Amino acid sequence: MEIQLAQRVIALTPSTTLAITAKAKELKSQGHDVIGLGAGEPDFNTPQHIIDAAVQSMNEGHTKYTPSAGLPALKKEIAAKFKKDQGLDYDPSEIIVTSGAKHGLYTLFQVLLNEGDEVIIPIPYWVSYPEQVKLAGGVPVYAVGKEENEYKITPEQLSESITDRTKAVIINSPSNPTGMLYSADELKALGDVCLNHNVLIISDEIYEKLVYGGHKHTSIAELSPELKEQTIIINGVSKSHSMTGWRIGYAAGNKEIIKAMTNLASHSTSNPTTTAQYGSIAAYAGPQDMLAEMREAFEHRLNIIYDKLIKIPGFTCVKPQGAFYLFPNVQKAAEQTGFENVDDFAKALLEEAMVAVIPGSGFGSPENIRLSYATSLDLLEKAVERMHSFVEKNMK
Ligand SMILES: Cc1ncc(COP(=O)(O)O)c(C=O)c1O
Repeated sequence: MEIQLAQRVIALTPSTTLAITAKAKELKSQGHDVIGLGAGEPDFNTPQHIIDAAVQSMNEGHTKYTPSAGLPALKKEIAAKFKKDQGLDYDPSEIIVTSGAKHGLYTLFQVLLNEGDEVIIPIPYWVSYPEQVKLAGGVPVYAVGKEENEYKITPEQLSESITDRTKAVIINSPSNPTGMLYSADELKALGDVCLNHNVLIISDEIYEKLVYGGHKHTSIAELSPELKEQTIIINGVSKSHSMTGWRIGYAAGNKEIIKAMTNLASHSTSNPTTTAQYGSIAAYAGPQDMLAEMREAFEHRLNIIYDKLIKIPGFTCVKPQGAFYLFPNVQKAAEQTGFENVDDFAKALLEEAMVAVIPGSGFGSPENIRLSYATSLDLLEKAVERMHSFVEKNMK
């Protein structure tokens, strides 16, 4: 039988991350000592009290469906977290628990966008934003965050990108892949543009807890009641509590939007996994000291590795203020070592230096590579040394 797949999946851009990861695995299975810097998840285990709470919930018989928008007890903890961290008040009807932040975003685009509606996506972007917008019939409109502006977009760029089809803009601070963090003033200026043009703000705050250098994370929603009205916050426990595999995220904002998302969830996921929701209650209600420990470990690695990375000839790198990625511009290094483009340079780094990094092309930024420092300091130091020798050896 000849299979005819739907146009919407044929149009999906294949993940560049997967291609590199597959090649790295193949080399590893052949006995090569590959160092993988592609990880998009913290390298710490989920704290034990969260695991214990999940197991206990199962032993107590909490193994059935929950409401589609999530357990009321979990929504209560999420509302308390918003109050404590951002001073924001959300009613339970303004919160939906989703199967990971990714599925929260997916559901949001599905309920928001009509065919041809535009969503402004700053470049460099997290790989799933454009694909999710397209899957919902929307059109991604890109605004380039320039390296000289720390990969941030300006209010002028945002204004210029707005048309009468603009529905929303995505703000991801701290950012994957750059680690960039917007200040409160910068957010306010972007927020004013959105208020003036009635553009919804989708604020992806999944890396909120991973901020360095004494900087503070600000949610655009906390800057004024008007901005809170205009914003849907996306967040979750994946990165903050090292719970990527549990698949629990959430969205908070306008009641009508949350209600539509809940209706859609009731026909797609039914509810996020019950056990994982119980674990997430413990994540927010229990001790938070491991969050600080993880943050400190990441910051320590960042400071050591960043200094070594920028010494590699042809590498420039804006120092990240959050998340756990470095996003150096390596265009010059690629040219000086005789490669046509950074994709080929990244391929050679893997095949010859045995270091797996993600080419920036997948993030809309073809002069960069993304390195994750969610791995041990030993391996990170070894990986950067290998990259440095590779570049020096091949310099023309
Ligand atoms: C910017 C950004 N948003 C959302 C997500 C998705 O998080 P989750 O694992 O909760 O689906 C990720 C995960 O890599 C991310 O980097």
